[in-house]
Amino acid sequence: MIVVQNLTKTFNPGTPQAFPALRNITFEVAENELVLLKGVSGSGKSTLLAIIASMLKPTSGDVIVEGKHVAKLPDLHASHFRATTIGFIFQSFNLLEHLSVTENVAVPLIPLGFRQKEIDAKVEWALQLANIAHKRETPAAALSGGEKQRCAIARALVNDPKLILCDEPTANLDRDNARAFVEVIKSLKKSGYTILIATHDTIFDDLKEVDRILHIENGEMR
Ligand SMILES: Nc1ncnc2c1ncn2[C@@H]1O[C@H](COP(=O)(O)OP(=O)(O)O)[C@@H](O)[C@H]1O
Ligand SMILES: [Mg+2]
Repeated sequence: MIVVQNLTKTFNPGTPQAFPALRNITFEVAENELVLLKGVSGSGKSTLLAIIASMLKPTSGDVIVEGKHVAKLPDLHASHFRATTIGFIFQSFNLLEHLSVTENVAVPLIPLGFRQKEIDAKVEWALQLANIAHKRETPAAALSGGEKQRCAIARALVNDPKLILCDEPTANLDRDNARAFVEVIKSLKKSGYTILIATHDTIFDDLKEVDRILHIENGEMR
């Protein structure tokens, strides 16, 4: 599902501020694996996820997701690839605060040209799956932290992507909501999704559903 080979990312290359955020990273994630990416703040986790999601171009190396060389995709293709293949769950949720839950969840479908009926059906499916259907008309600004997270999960799932990337998904949640998030991850794993979670939350450590833990330190795999 994911193949990363000799991946390097240097920010501000060729300047005195040049910073090697990722150095020669190589690993693979198989279909339906649940993998944790662990490392302290600044170790390169977000940079790595952004490159896998084709939101950021690497400096060198290969990144192949579902058979596509994402690093080489032109921007227009990169956004289509992202919209159809990747569900991304951010630490800060990244919701549009003035839009309702339903509208937020529908956003990833807009560029794909679905008809309204198809959009309604997909959104409803995602709202049920993420257990947030009861708040469908509520503006994101009026949701609790846990509800925002569930709205973000629904938005990540609405395209039924094969790959779910999570960047510190429990960092802004209280323990009850973090445990609820873990339950969602378990059921997604059971349903066949491939999941990569960047985290330093120990709440994932003893899950039997976790297949592997990758450790990143100063931009290098350990
Ligand atoms: N756009 C950028 N320009 C320069 N340096 C950056 C940029 N983005 C991240 N970095 C640096 O790269 C390193 C890794 O960052 P990041 O991937 O966000 O780490 P993590 O998610 O593990 O906390 C950090 O030292 C960070 O300051
Ligand atoms: Mg980060």
